[in-house]
Amino acid sequence: MKQKTERRNFIKSSLLALSGAIFYKSKLAANANYDVDSSTGALLHTPNDTLNVIHNLHTTHGNFSHKEIPEADLEQIRLASVHGANSSNMQTYSIILVKDRQKIKDITTYEGSALFLFCVDFNRLIDCAKQLGHAYYPDNMTNFVTASINTTIAAQTAVIAAQSMGLDTLLTNGIHRGDMQRVWDILELPQEKCFPLIALVLGYATEEPLYHAGRLDGVGIFHEEKYHKLTTEEINEIIATYDNKEKHLGLYENWDQDGHAHYLDWLHSYWLGRASEPTKSETAVFSFIKRSGFVES
Ligand SMILES: Cc1cc2nc3c(=O)[nH]c(=O)nc-3n(C[C@H](O)[C@H](O)[C@H](O)COP(=O)(O)O)c2cc1C
Repeated sequence: MKQKTERRNFIKSSLLALSGAIFYKSKLAANANYDVDSSTGALLHTPNDTLNVIHNLHTTHGNFSHKEIPEADLEQIRLASVHGANSSNMQTYSIILVKDRQKIKDITTYEGSALFLFCVDFNRLIDCAKQLGHAYYPDNMTNFVTASINTTIAAQTAVIAAQSMGLDTLLTNGIHRGDMQRVWDILELPQEKCFPLIALVLGYATEEPLYHAGRLDGVGIFHEEKYHKLTTEEINEIIATYDNKEKHLGLYENWDQDGHAHYLDWLHSYWLGRASEPTKSETAVFSFIKRSGFVES
């Protein structure tokens, strides 16, 4: 008897939950703010201007024209970049605008109409603390990691602002290639507690890309409730997804003509080169982070 009642309660609650779900879905679909995605059948919030800009974000890989960017646009980007979230609202970064084309090339190796260099930087905060007689030692990896997050959010916010105004963008870590000391020398960066993290080159592309790069957006990227370790089948599916040229996930399309069985074979054996081997000696990036005083001893 008890079992029967429990079963009936279970069916009743399941039906209620189900009808709730249907009602909720149909109510959402009827709402002007929601659309059904025709390819996946998923219910999606109707795109708005902000979502359209985000979904259309794309990189210009250096083919910028010589057209100048209006000052008013640079000003909007500057103001937008500092509106990203940041820890304790301490803005542990400095943003350097460079318009001298030769300097942009020397710093990043890329040509462009303007450059915003986003640096992890505690100097302003240290100066203010000292002025008021406070001791402040942002001298460890926790400070560096948190400041890197603040700095990266500022950079991506600038990218979104720029592309929303029709500018083309290139985020590059070209500043970490070659002799990194040049970045300190050209811009007179403080040696202590300042590290150039990411460069944003801006301009107008001479030609639009043939396609926008795709993204993985399923298993292996998103996990629900807890981390899901990939099964062999899922790994093979991901390898095949990279091989599907229609998805445009790769940096290079002719990997198969170069004799590789999979795109990821090309990536690991050709593109990543030495990065596919264990690191044997200290990298220049680590040396400079250490010199900046962010590695605790
Ligand atoms: C940290 C970082 C460094 C990057 N460095 C370069 C670079 O040096 N040269 C380049 O052409 N693109 C660079 N990119 C852009 C990526 O190649 C690009 O975002 C990726 O291929 C996806 O393409 P999409 O941005 O057009 O969607 C970089 C992006 C990031 C976030």
